[in-house]
Amino acid sequence: MKRVDDFRLQLGKHELVPIMVGGMGVDISTAELSLEAARLGGIGHISDAMVPTVSDRRFNTKYVKNKLKQYKFNVANTDKAVVKFDLGLLAEATALHVGRTMEAKRGDGLIFINCMEKLTMNAPKETLRVRIKAALDAGIDGVTLAAGLHLGSFGLIEDHPRFRDVKLGIIVSSLRALQLFIKKSARTNRFPDYVVIEGPLAGGHLGFGMDWSQFDLATIVAEIREWLKAENLDIPLIPAGGIFTGSDAVAFLDAGAAAVQVATRFTVSKECGLPEDVQQEYFKAGEPDIEVNTISPTGYPMRMLKNSPGIGDGIRPNCEAYGYLLDSNGSCQYVEAYNREVALHPEAKKVKVLDKTCLCTHMRNFEIWTCGHYTYRLKDTSRRNEDGSYQLLSAEHIFRDYQFSTDNTIALPA
Ligand SMILES: Cc1cc2nc3c(=O)[nH]c(=O)nc-3n(C[C@H](O)[C@H](O)[C@H](O)COP(=O)(O)O)c2cc1C
Repeated sequence: MKRVDDFRLQLGKHELVPIMVGGMGVDISTAELSLEAARLGGIGHISDAMVPTVSDRRFNTKYVKNKLKQYKFNVANTDKAVVKFDLGLLAEATALHVGRTMEAKRGDGLIFINCMEKLTMNAPKETLRVRIKAALDAGIDGVTLAAGLHLGSFGLIEDHPRFRDVKLGIIVSSLRALQLFIKKSARTNRFPDYVVIEGPLAGGHLGFGMDWSQFDLATIVAEIREWLKAENLDIPLIPAGGIFTGSDAVAFLDAGAAAVQVATRFTVSKECGLPEDVQQEYFKAGEPDIEVNTISPTGYPMRMLKNSPGIGDGIRPNCEAYGYLLDSNGSCQYVEAYNREVALHPEAKKVKVLDKTCLCTHMRNFEIWTCGHYTYRLKDTSRRNEDGSYQLLSAEHIFRDYQFSTDNTIALPA
């Protein structure tokens, strides 16, 4: 009976355990979680979502407070176009987050950063360029381009001295997205070093419409593999989404995948950034408690627990402090939805906004509980305490379970 440990991911000169822990913003895939994955010989991800906020929480910086102070005059204004990020400070915060993580790295594995194009930050190109370049400067091992087609992203950083040696990958959910990316990046004479293929059962935002259930990860992986073969391209493929046991992973590795990307199982690890009471909600969830909805202002469907406190919460937009989803015109679908509700209910002290959510605020405060489809199986991965709560697991325990388990079994904590 094969196990994941029978396979290795060859990435340049690195030989790795073929387990990649996916990026989970905002600081759900913490430095600590990524460091454990790297220590154990795999790949971990930190996230570049809302890094100034993360830095404030971890390193006592004051980026958010100072930004809010600068734009306080605009808080009651319905138009958020004036709210911009200071690129120097953004680079500084990224340097801190990435630099501290890389300094703490031990072992033979790698640490990548998950970089989402949909964080348009009222200046999409400029802010993305600064975020990636600052991460390269701070020594990140690799960058996984996520949440977007990233058609111009290689071009943004091609003049960086590390452009050819750092590992660069992209997350796609279809062959078409990969074809477009490769075509548009051809000018830089560089292919991605790996491709994460994310299927419809993943957590976070989905690269599918609300018809996500019509799609199947294994089919998409096979399609992409065939096409790469026909094009004579040898790029490691890393399926993601719903790979819950070591045996699930082996099935993909046996079929030619180079590694797997997993996330949901690690949401209940001690190293994960979710507060423990939220982790208990993940453990307790049943299948009917999980939904894919369209409340994310990014326009992508997102999977989450239905009892996430951020759903329907009509708070005043916090763009002066955050503003990560402001598009190139300085607008955000939540701001529009909120302004509409306020105009409809001028007397109301607080409005309800059901169609969109203020994702910056609620992800920052762990009030949108995004999760993978199989979250309802997490209860089978741990033991129950006498008070009914579940035991948190160590990231090492979960990683090793993926690495060594067979027969679809899941090892419970000692
Ligand atoms: C809590 C949570 C947050 C996530 N956040 C992000 C993110 O910020 N960026 C991203 O590209 N993917 C994100 N994902 C997707 C994961 O990185 C990963 O590809 C996917 O969830 C793998 O499927 P699995 O959770 O079924 O193992 C998130 C997933 C979860 C569970």
